[in-house]
Amino acid sequence: MERLDKLVCSQGTLTRSEAGRAIRCGRVTVDGKVCRQGALKLDPAAHDIAVDGKTLGYAKFVYWMLNKPAGILCVSRDPKVPTVVDLLPAEHRRKGLFPAGRLDKDTHGLVLITDDGDFAHRMLSPRHHIPKTYHAVLDKPLTAEDAEAFQAGPVLADGTQCQPAKLSVLREGDNPLVEVVIYEGKYHQIKRMFAAVGCHVEWLKRVKMGGLVLDESLVEGACRPLTQEEKDSILTENN
Ligand code: URA
Repeated sequence: MERLDKLVCSQGTLTRSEAGRAIRCGRVTVDGKVCRQGALKLDPAAHDIAVDGKTLGYAKFVYWMLNKPAGILCVSRDPKVPTVVDLLPAEHRRKGLFPAGRLDKDTHGLVLITDDGDFAHRMLSPRHHIPKTYHAVLDKPLTAEDAEAFQAGPVLADGTQCQPAKLSVLREGDNPLVEVVIYEGKYHQIKRMFAAVGCHVEWLKRVKMGGLVLDESLVEGACRPLTQEEKDSILTENN
């Protein structure tokens, strides 16, 4: 059950205040009858809600791509620190939203925010081996042995054996920029994999999950809904 004013703005293109005005002006109908009570709680799946005669296409779940800046917590709510969910436009925040897969506070890049728990579970389950691609700047050049260790599956400091990861150098130098693809999601995995070969990660960004590529036209902190094609690409690409 959700308030009518919230439903009108979360499913349509109106802001919360525009939705409130539209309701008060009699532009909103519920099951064909004008309803002027913005606070009325309704199950959107059980009612036909229309604005200016146009039925709202009720989306059961939502899927947002966010370009996460550093300094933002990758959780739903925090009493002190801004979270990735706080970065969604206010009129599109709704109950149950969470980031599907965590990034560290200092990591940048692609985060999927959704309220679809089943989808997130499929995406994150180790059984599905959904690849996650990261770009990292390191504190020193890599050796051929380091690259071999990634190919074989690095062993972390605590003895954890990782699955093989793909490593390629995008820019050589004292602080190389590398691309790493992993197929699992252990805690601080990228930083710990590089620590295992004696390297420190100075900057980290996630750029891809499955077939979903971060839209580089999104400035840091900006987000947009996924297209259906993009959503499907997360689970279908297994490179
Ligand atoms: N690996 C890390 O070490 N940090 C992240 O934020 C994501 C993957």
